[in-house]
Amino acid sequence: MPGSVFSINKKTKKINMSQTITFQVQPGGSLRGEIRVPGDKSMSHRSIMLGSLAEGVTHVTGFLNAEDAISTLEAFRAMGVEIEGPVNGEVTIHGVGKHGLKAPAKPLYLGNSGTSMRLLSGLLAGQPFDTVLTGDKSLESRPMKRVTVPLAQMGAEIITQENGTAPLHIKGKAGKLQGIHYDMPIASAQVKSCLLLAGMYAEGETSVTEPAPTRDHTERMLNGFGYPVQREGSTARISNQGKLTAARIDVPSDISSAAFFLVGASIAPDSDVTLRHVGINPTRTGVIDILRLMGANIEVLNEREVGGEPVADLRVRSASLKGINIPEHLVPLAIDEFPVLFVAAACAEGQTVLTGAEELRVKESDRIQVMADGLQILGVDAQPTKDGMVINGGGHIGSGEVESHGDHRIAMSFSIAGLRANGPITIRDCANVNTSFPEFRALATHLGLALTSF
Ligand code: S3P
Repeated sequence: MPGSVFSINKKTKKINMSQTITFQVQPGGSLRGEIRVPGDKSMSHRSIMLGSLAEGVTHVTGFLNAEDAISTLEAFRAMGVEIEGPVNGEVTIHGVGKHGLKAPAKPLYLGNSGTSMRLLSGLLAGQPFDTVLTGDKSLESRPMKRVTVPLAQMGAEIITQENGTAPLHIKGKAGKLQGIHYDMPIASAQVKSCLLLAGMYAEGETSVTEPAPTRDHTERMLNGFGYPVQREGSTARISNQGKLTAARIDVPSDISSAAFFLVGASIAPDSDVTLRHVGINPTRTGVIDILRLMGANIEVLNEREVGGEPVADLRVRSASLKGINIPEHLVPLAIDEFPVLFVAAACAEGQTVLTGAEELRVKESDRIQVMADGLQILGVDAQPTKDGMVINGGGHIGSGEVESHGDHRIAMSFSIAGLRANGPITIRDCANVNTSFPEFRALATHLGLALTSF
């Protein structure tokens, strides 16, 4: 019934970055209805990057019109690429070819977006011009050595701040990069993608081995644009012998945005939600696996493939969840979903233990500490550990005032916690919900969440 699916499409709107937004959620309620959440953030970034480097005109539909993806779009405009949109999720990119980018007139400001900064640092290392990459306070405190160290091994010259953070001053080394083999010490799709993009400009072969599977949208989309990337077990290989030919990209809905409603409809009694056209790439579906292990009732319907990526409708109904030991192999496959999974754990009977997730400490905020602090304020027995969390769930979630620390996924997770709280929850510092999911409040209230903002 696509005609009856509620979704929100907005034209580009300017968002005031200095705005402070507070969310307040009234307790209880259920979630019911059908929605389509906005486009996948990872794929939206990559569609702009690869569309810009392609020969010909690339049409993107389902593009995420949110601050992070717009940071990437504006960066490519600043490097001379003509890009129309986004209008109702449609973007038209007039590709300039692999060697057609121009020096930007000023530093590229990438806001809150780690994906923009890490992928661009690889792509820009081999250009015939210098660039400076900057970002907001959170982005400029995140670790960048994970990309600048292997890029230096390829011959890149990137000056960081003393502790390895941005601003990054990238000296363009066109024709001077050398392919390397890199065994990644951490499972990171951003590091893998950064090196593959640098490898498009490096002499010889560049190969990257990952210690555990991570999202493979870069490899899939490069192949979709006709650029050869070989995949052999946990290793991806690329060379400078390829070109990108313009393509049509249909970006599915973001499973990381859908995750808030997968948890919300699971924990709230009498809920029944269908999420349409969600990307279910197996490198992204850890949240479904973890919730099912906890006893969630999630059906994957109408599975199909759209432009090289698997897509489905997800139907989720209330269930009584139980605590589990989260298998470590699922951690990279659900890396962005842990804030809301901690809310599921708080509502689950028994103990949930997460280990092997130290990466959560260097996301948009320290997601282990910030979630533990907020859950404790709400009376939940949540104990942070060095690499995860132990939550004894099943008690009640109280009311109170929590801080999101400017982290979009923390803000949305505590909003969902309201469904099982026994009083209102106030969440401070929520403006950054606009980085990934500006329609969150409208879609959540449409389904039944009593969420206001001021
Ligand atoms: C992303 C990779 C992940 C994820 C981020 C998006 C990407 O980061 O957390 O939100 O688009 O490649 P890491 O590679 O640092 O794990």
